[in-house]
Amino acid sequence: MKTIIEPFRIKSVEPIYFSTAAERKAILEEAFYNPFLIHSENVLIDLLTDSGTSAMSSEQWAGIMRGDESYAGSPSFFRFESAVWEITQMPHVIPTHQGRASEKILFSILGGKGKYFLSNTLFDTTRANIEFSGAEGIDLLCEEGKHPGIPAPFKGNIDIEALKEFINKKGAENIPLCIITVTNNSGGGQPVSMQNIRETSAVCKAHNIPLFIDACRFAENAYFIKLREDGYADKPVKEIARELFSYADGCTMSAKKDAFANIGGFLALHNEDLAKQCRNLLVITEGFPTYGGLAGRDLEAIAIGLNEVTDEHYLQYRIRSIEYLSNKLADAGVPVMKPAGGHAVYIDAKAMLPHIPVEQYPGQALVCALYETGGIRSVEIGSLMFGKYNEQDQLIPATLELVRLAIPRRVYTQSHIDYVAEVIIEVFENRDTIKGLQVIEEAALLRHFTAKLKPVL
Ligand code: F0G
Repeated sequence: MKTIIEPFRIKSVEPIYFSTAAERKAILEEAFYNPFLIHSENVLIDLLTDSGTSAMSSEQWAGIMRGDESYAGSPSFFRFESAVWEITQMPHVIPTHQGRASEKILFSILGGKGKYFLSNTLFDTTRANIEFSGAEGIDLLCEEGKHPGIPAPFKGNIDIEALKEFINKKGAENIPLCIITVTNNSGGGQPVSMQNIRETSAVCKAHNIPLFIDACRFAENAYFIKLREDGYADKPVKEIARELFSYADGCTMSAKKDAFANIGGFLALHNEDLAKQCRNLLVITEGFPTYGGLAGRDLEAIAIGLNEVTDEHYLQYRIRSIEYLSNKLADAGVPVMKPAGGHAVYIDAKAMLPHIPVEQYPGQALVCALYETGGIRSVEIGSLMFGKYNEQDQLIPATLELVRLAIPRRVYTQSHIDYVAEVIIEVFENRDTIKGLQVIEEAALLRHFTAKLKPVL
């Protein structure tokens, strides 16, 4: 087979700023060993997130000019609504300024003390919004998903038996919603199978629990289903996506991922009463129902992006380019999550840095080493992001200590990715010199964004 090429030409470019390792060492110290606090101009290759960082297409930029900024009833809204309908077939479409705004609205209505929200794995903002309402978020990831080094086709699946058990134990009346995250971001960008979604839906229906999809990366998930699940090889991705949404009562989506938009999101659902309640909150927190938290031009960009993302040449290139980086690292002995995820490569920092105890955040230590060595910005998905403290103020660590290298969509070329692999392999070869970190300042919620750290001497 010939090389799978980027299915686009480049019309407009942005400069990358170069720096030396010595400069980056000082920058890291000033940023308290937290790359969220580094100015992006000091980053060479920014793999902090695939969210809002996509390159928009010339069609999307043309849509930006077409955007109609009427306060109410803008044609841009109706184009947006119809693009969301095309994929989800959900009649109530509520635009928000980004994914977490949809979550905030949904969980303000459904959450509260004594309630449980069940999931394969909740993303951090989703969990934070659930907890902020007083409720509890429960991850019921399948066993395969808990072993980064062992490949399996659908490591994002929810554990159906655990789901049934939890419902029986706590009572369906205390469970307002089950949420399946596709792909499972915090669990390694791993896909969920159609069968798993179908079975989850059946369990939820039997107990009258609505099923929602956290749909940020629905197209990547649908493409994995096409590649890996029996019976889907010849189906168009759009059809697969539609089937996936057909099992759900609603969804939240951050359009900053699979809609190639720099901002935006939405809530879509079937239930009219719930939609009314959501729109009531929308009006006081985001805006009028036909623009939500967005400008008309953003609605256009999202509508076009939602259509472009189901293009199978694009998805083939997308999934292959992540796998390309993952394979290069694995061939050099770097412990990566297997198989590669849909939007990111995840390094198992616990396996790579066994000399750093989890209390000293091996993931964050690796993130800092990648920045210092090669100017690459990545993110820890481990105990800094998800760790909690017990009553004795001891860290309750996360199950996994991962470092995520999220690849922005349509932004970096193969030589950028080759450079990233070279830097990671160099860090891997010198891994014994990496030191652990300790937290010196932190916030109560989502502490990883602003935490200040220092090296353990
Ligand atoms: N759900 C998932 C699965 C996500 O990955 C994100 C964002 C959100 C919800 C929230 O969406 O950012 O638009 O408010 N993930 C980004 C990331 C931030 O880097 O993975 P948002």
